[in-house]
Amino acid sequence: MARTFFVGGNFKMNGSKESLTQIVDTLNKADLPANVEVVIAPPAPYIPLVVSENTQKTVEVSAQNVFDKASGAYTGEISPQQLKDLGATWTLTGHSERRTIIKESDEFVADKTKFALDSGIKVILCIGETLEERKAGVTIEVCARQLDAVSKIVSDWTNIVVAYEPVWAIGTGLAATPEDAQDTHKDIRAHLTKTIGAEQAEKVRILYGGSVNGKNAPEFRDKADVDGFLVGGASLKPEFIDIIRSRL
Ligand code: G3P
Repeated sequence: MARTFFVGGNFKMNGSKESLTQIVDTLNKADLPANVEVVIAPPAPYIPLVVSENTQKTVEVSAQNVFDKASGAYTGEISPQQLKDLGATWTLTGHSERRTIIKESDEFVADKTKFALDSGIKVILCIGETLEERKAGVTIEVCARQLDAVSKIVSDWTNIVVAYEPVWAIGTGLAATPEDAQDTHKDIRAHLTKTIGAEQAEKVRILYGGSVNGKNAPEFRDKADVDGFLVGGASLKPEFIDIIRSRL
């Protein structure tokens, strides 16, 4: 089936009022293809600025993380209700940097994913294996474990996009080959077929993330289960536009 091509930009802990205004201005002026869904995730303090600068509405705005409560004594956390209040419509959950650096468990990621969805915020659910896990040949087992934590408590995956980001490819300049990405995406979709059902599994977009850039993005064009990208470093550069156009 035809799934709408999706490109996410995860700015991580980067940017300033000036640089982020420039990025959104570039996106406002770019002739982006209508059949590509584009979501950008600035650092949380800049969400209001990015929302207000997004005058052409060519992109949607995402958080990079969210909490699993609506309000209360949770210092430093941000609720999906506050994200909606600020004009964000998406959030990432489970990014490998939060799983490895902040030590977020599969269950915590699942709880945050469910609460965001129940609160009306769409989710880019990040999964992926470490280099050690890849070398041990347990890539799909790791991805399945991360996905199952969510499918145990979330049955409707309409507003979930999955981002497969092999940790060993993030920020290294060493992207997975399109063939390897396609093989893993196919395995992920096959696993989702068993857990959320064939109809939903066919509809879920599965993004590839990990050293995507304007040069290698077109190489994924004919990979049937690669439905888009979650881009880090290159999303802060003009080549982000090339990545958005890479499926043309
Ligand atoms: O979430 C996307 C990010 O982890 C990928 O980073 O810099 O390898 O594109 P990068």
